[in-house]
Amino acid sequence: MSIDATPSCILVTGGTGFIGSHTVVVLLEQGHEVVIVDDLSNSSEKVLDRIDQIVGEEAAERLTFVRADVADREALDAIFDEFDIDAVIHFAGYKAVGESVQKPIEYYSNNIGNTLVLVDAMRDHGCKSIIFSSSATVYGDPDELPLTESSPKKPATNPYGWTKWMIEEILGSLVVADPEWNVVLLRYFNPIGAHPSGLMGEDPKGIPNNLLPYVAQVAVGRRDAVHVFGNDYDTPDGTGVRDYIHVMDLAEGHAAALSWMMGRNGCEVFNLGTGNGTSVLQIIEAFSTACGHDLPYVIEPRRAGDVTANWADCTKAREQLGWKAKFNIADMCRDSWNWQSHNPNGYEA
Ligand SMILES: NC(=O)c1ccc[n+]([C@@H]2O[C@H](COP(=O)([O-])OP(=O)(O)OC[C@H]3O[C@@H](n4cnc5c(N)ncnc54)[C@H](O)[C@@H]3O)[C@@H](O)[C@H]2O)c1
Repeated sequence: MSIDATPSCILVTGGTGFIGSHTVVVLLEQGHEVVIVDDLSNSSEKVLDRIDQIVGEEAAERLTFVRADVADREALDAIFDEFDIDAVIHFAGYKAVGESVQKPIEYYSNNIGNTLVLVDAMRDHGCKSIIFSSSATVYGDPDELPLTESSPKKPATNPYGWTKWMIEEILGSLVVADPEWNVVLLRYFNPIGAHPSGLMGEDPKGIPNNLLPYVAQVAVGRRDAVHVFGNDYDTPDGTGVRDYIHVMDLAEGHAAALSWMMGRNGCEVFNLGTGNGTSVLQIIEAFSTACGHDLPYVIEPRRAGDVTANWADCTKAREQLGWKAKFNIADMCRDSWNWQSHNPNGYEA
């Protein structure tokens, strides 16, 4: 998809992470200047070399990396003083649902507390445009499918979910208080896949919390078997159904939102998914096809807080942003396998 974009200077928090790094590639390829702020708490600095390799020398010159915690107000002030930031894309935060139950203070502090530090710094420097990484988790267990942006938000079942829920409210309140703010809340469904070059992909530290990196690590022999949590859901094969979206489609979605939001004010929400539901067993089968061998799996009890099924209605993003996901599950598994097989230990040698 080609999106006309006026080159801008974009601050990307969490830009060395999984979704952030792919988005940075798209932004650089579209001619933007990008400043990444990331403390590398869940990513590797090596991703910066990979970004350079993908985008080439000329575009790489428009990228600056600042290793800092978003909580570090002085570091943020220094960035806003040095660069004329037009908009912020805010990815930085912790994202492991299970861990958030064990470490609520860390999650509320890093996700909510740091967002407050960030928007305070933005306000003080006159930058009032922000795109926030929200999640389909705010919809909870849906009454109706597909989920549209006006489907009700449901109480979260864990601290991670509450942070997304609350940050949406906080950013909405900014617009109420000061109509100059320009907020886009992007509710991601399940991002998977990797850059088609095989140079960048998801590289979680420790045991992966999400299905796809786990499946990929089983495929490459790092783990014994995929754990399937529940096969007695009310779905065609009994396993949970999700709307998986290729990380490159998601990255393009951010670029589309960015060009759409320039010159506007207000707060808008967009679902970013494909509109298709895929079960856990269908993912395992698709990945087995991609990697060329069957993947062992074991059925475990249901996990607390997991919903039966969700998938998105993405009409609003298509109509307003001119964005639509173009990759299917086979593409996602192919690119994920390409990344994992060429980088069995992720960014580490
Ligand atoms: N991956 C998913 O399934 C998914 C789904 C919905 C929403 N999201 C949200 O999208 C965002 C990006 O997710 P991701 O999958 O790329 O995660 P990720 O962990 O790969 O990326 C997050 C990045 O933020 C950095 N970071 C964390 N706390 C920081 C801090 N205080 N200061 C500076 N940097 C910090 C980490 O080092 C990491 O590079 C997160 O906010 C996540 O909650 C992710």
